Amino acid sequence: MYQNIDLLTPEECKDIREKIFSLKDYWINRARALSPFDDVPFYCIGVASYIDCIDPAQDHYYFDNAKIMNKIIWENFSDLFKKVEAVIKQEFGCEVRYISDFALPGFQIYLADWYFEEFTGPKHCDFHHYLLDWSKYGINFDPEENMTFTAAIKLPKSGGGIYMWDKTYPYTKEAKSISYEEHRNRMYGIELLDEERTHYKYEEGKIFFHTGNKYHQVAPIDVMENDDERLTLQGHAVRDKDIFYLFW
Ligand SMILES: [Fe+2]
Repeated sequence: MYQNIDLLTPEECKDIREKIFSLKDYWINRARALSPFDDVPFYCIGVASYIDCIDPAQDHYYFDNAKIMNKIIWENFSDLFKKVEAVIKQEFGCEVRYISDFALPGFQIYLADWYFEEFTGPKHCDFHHYLLDWSKYGINFDPEENMTFTAAIKLPKSGGGIYMWDKTYPYTKEAKSISYEEHRNRMYGIELLDEERTHYKYEEGKIFFHTGNKYHQVAPIDVMENDDERLTLQGHAVRDKDIFYLFW
């Protein structure tokens, strides 16, 4: 399921980049999600369940901001979403739908900083569908059929990509008998060897799909020059029959 599929022309990438920067007031500083520092220039447009919905006592932040940001994201990027929907239809034969209470896919923004040459995020599997109550919406899915995607809008001159390991965190076996945080700690505790990883390159204007169930990691950037940026659209999906429900 590792694929780089054509999505956007260079001109469309340029337009989307400009829109991302025109929405700077809505960027959420995510430095602390990646680093011990407050000033590492990592931002998101939109909220993400795996950051904002972990603590049930605080999950109103996710749901309140999903409402606000979904409107802004849709107003500015519906053309991009229509293209993502068309590619999913073409590649998987599935329709796309959204749950209005859940966050739409959003943007990850890395601006120039030496930090990203060393570290861009932990090795992990995506199982944050687990944080949202899909049954409330009558949606049934097999997590084995989940999907994660990244569309590269702008990459540093030295490129960008993802490391994948052929290894899965077996969260499905225990389902909800333990908390998400406990699952996450166990997931991070599994040893993964550098020599067993495969590097996949992202390409500007292309969308990369994978299941999210295999361990993966945003690959550190070889060289981050002062005018470099790494801008991606990031999303996840669960599949109920022939419909992918996209979320973040
Ligand atoms: Fe992931």
